[in-house]
Amino acid sequence: MLAAQDVFNPSHYAGCRRPLEQAETLPPWCYYDEEFYRAEVEHIFMKVWNFLGRSDRIPNPGDYFTVNYVGVPLIIVRGKDKVVRAFSNTCRHRGARVAEDKGNCRAFVCPYHGWVYDLDGALKGANGMEKAENFDRSQYGLVPVRLEEWGGFIFVNFDADAEPLLDYLGDAPEQLASYDCENLVTTRLTSFELDCNWKLYIENAMEEYHLPFVHKSTLNLKDFDHGIIPAEGNWDAIREKHEGTRALLEEDKQHGLPRIKTLEGPPAEGTHYVVLYPSTMLGMTTDSVWWLELHPMGPNKTKLIVGTCFPKETVERPDFEEKAKYYYKRWDKSIGEDNDVSDIQHEGVTSPFAKPGRLSHHEPLVHHIANWVIDRVVGNRPPA
Ligand code: FES
Ligand SMILES: [Fe+2]
Repeated sequence: MLAAQDVFNPSHYAGCRRPLEQAETLPPWCYYDEEFYRAEVEHIFMKVWNFLGRSDRIPNPGDYFTVNYVGVPLIIVRGKDKVVRAFSNTCRHRGARVAEDKGNCRAFVCPYHGWVYDLDGALKGANGMEKAENFDRSQYGLVPVRLEEWGGFIFVNFDADAEPLLDYLGDAPEQLASYDCENLVTTRLTSFELDCNWKLYIENAMEEYHLPFVHKSTLNLKDFDHGIIPAEGNWDAIREKHEGTRALLEEDKQHGLPRIKTLEGPPAEGTHYVVLYPSTMLGMTTDSVWWLELHPMGPNKTKLIVGTCFPKETVERPDFEEKAKYYYKRWDKSIGEDNDVSDIQHEGVTSPFAKPGRLSHHEPLVHHIANWVIDRVVGNRPPA
């Protein structure tokens, strides 16, 4: 077994720290070691703004969904005042989950002993507690979790001291403004459980080196005019200049839907493949936006949610459903291919004989992602 004695010793990461042309990949244990994963949860996912899809998933008061994010059960609910809030899905009596799956309700009733919580988290009813002394219901509401939105996208943060979402996102909202994300409508969500580490998947999403191999018959683009763009804040993007859309296969180009009418500047000239650190990818093309939302479930397991959205006026067209099928076909094909290769890669990288590899000039964001992770997981620890 080649796992290091101390996986946090900075000397193990010297190869990743070098400039891209000289850089190595992350050591293989970063993709399977339990201790490294626990440090990622503590220093990354418990601290950053975590992406949880779009708020149009719960359009009406009382609509909610639940999620388990890095081991934290959450309820995301739209209140009677239309505000979207997040709560720990943990009853304040003896800790049971108070909500399951998704739905609409007027209040959450804990399935264990029936405590009742309002949509704003307040404890409204607790039958059987009449004789409990000094029991102040107002102190036993569901524990809120910070939630902020940008462009209709929901983010939660477990750290009370974290910077506001817009500071975290830096100049992403400005550079991506003309996609007019507020006006997008989610048209489909699909999800997968993958036997791979979350980093493998986001790295894959942010490099084009694999396109001629993994996507040989789907996305094998000729004359690929692209580069990474300057970005301030916790994001990066590859910008590709091209005509038309990148959300249809070449063979289906005739089924295109209208362009996003607000596009201007670089977004009008092609596609942005965006990584919102640590683990979200947005594909923002000229007529639609899709996202890859990763929920780490341990070092060797990741839930992937794929969301697709189009401008409101596109979704209202009578031919939308018919044409959207071709977009879904493209996403299903390419994402299936990426899912398959993530399995293949994860099994290889967890071999006791796996060693750090070298990076190509086609993989600058794989290098960024590795260094972003090391900054937080290794950089936060006292030197050995
Ligand atoms: S654990 Fe919820 S009411 Fe008892
Ligand atoms: Fe891919």
